[in-house]
Amino acid sequence: MMNQREARHRYRQNQNKNQNSFAANSIMDTGLLNYELVRPGLLSKLVCLDEIGSTNEFASAHSFPSDTLIVTTNQTCGKGRFGRKWFSDPGKNIAMTLVRNYSLGIDEIHCVSFYSSLILLKSLVKICGSSAKDFSLKWPNDLLLKGKKVSGFLLDTKDLRSAEKKISVGLGINVNQELFDEEIKHKATSLLLDAGKEFDTDEIIIRFVTDFYATLHLINDHTSLMLQWKDNCGHIGKKIMFRLLADGEEYPALVKDILPDGSLRLQLEDGNEKSFYSGEVSVAY
Ligand code: BTN
Repeated sequence: MMNQREARHRYRQNQNKNQNSFAANSIMDTGLLNYELVRPGLLSKLVCLDEIGSTNEFASAHSFPSDTLIVTTNQTCGKGRFGRKWFSDPGKNIAMTLVRNYSLGIDEIHCVSFYSSLILLKSLVKICGSSAKDFSLKWPNDLLLKGKKVSGFLLDTKDLRSAEKKISVGLGINVNQELFDEEIKHKATSLLLDAGKEFDTDEIIIRFVTDFYATLHLINDHTSLMLQWKDNCGHIGKKIMFRLLADGEEYPALVKDILPDGSLRLQLEDGNEKSFYSGEVSVAY
């Protein structure tokens, strides 16, 4: 009988023979990712790219089947929220987009975003062996490590009128980046900067995707999902600065809650409470 190592080797050889046309010379171990994620049936397609402008844009430009993962460690023109750029040093970090069809109502799409950030938090706690308290979630879907951003999410949607909605979850994880630009270094970090050691990007990709598929039912269990998300959110009950638009003014507010519809419930300076569906929170740590 073949042992696991041989099976993996055989699988790698086969994968390399039938190599996906996007995957040549990837610095990621495409064979290993295929073995761990495609072979067990989690992903239907894996696209490993040596270099790409944006994994989200690449996903939008193609018609990939549900459960396709597009991944690179060299994203050159990453897109962030509010039309910002997402910067990443070549070969250091993970940029990936998971394309999937979800049977959800329009008013439930936010659950995919909350679910994805919650799962990444759980996966990184396992990989880093650090305290769960070191990682926290910032509304609507940033992942912070000791108060600095270590990962960001950007969702693109298609087929919003049909029952099955195609949602691309794009996530960038700062893994082995050592330096950040002057303007963001006070608020951005990487796993390496925190732990003082390098992390294996393949291991993180495998952990995240495996965890993502293991508890998919949570997306439909809104109460439990939001309770878990709020349990890991660092700013409920705290004073924050809130900005509604990217170039808009920041104003102080008290975070009262995150409601089941995904909105942020704030108490404004005049004492009135209001719910927001988009915007940006800054937290002073
Ligand atoms: C943000 O916090 O502003 C969101 C950042 C999202 C970045 C990821 S990296 C992979 C995917 N492809 C992109 O172009 N953007 C997302």
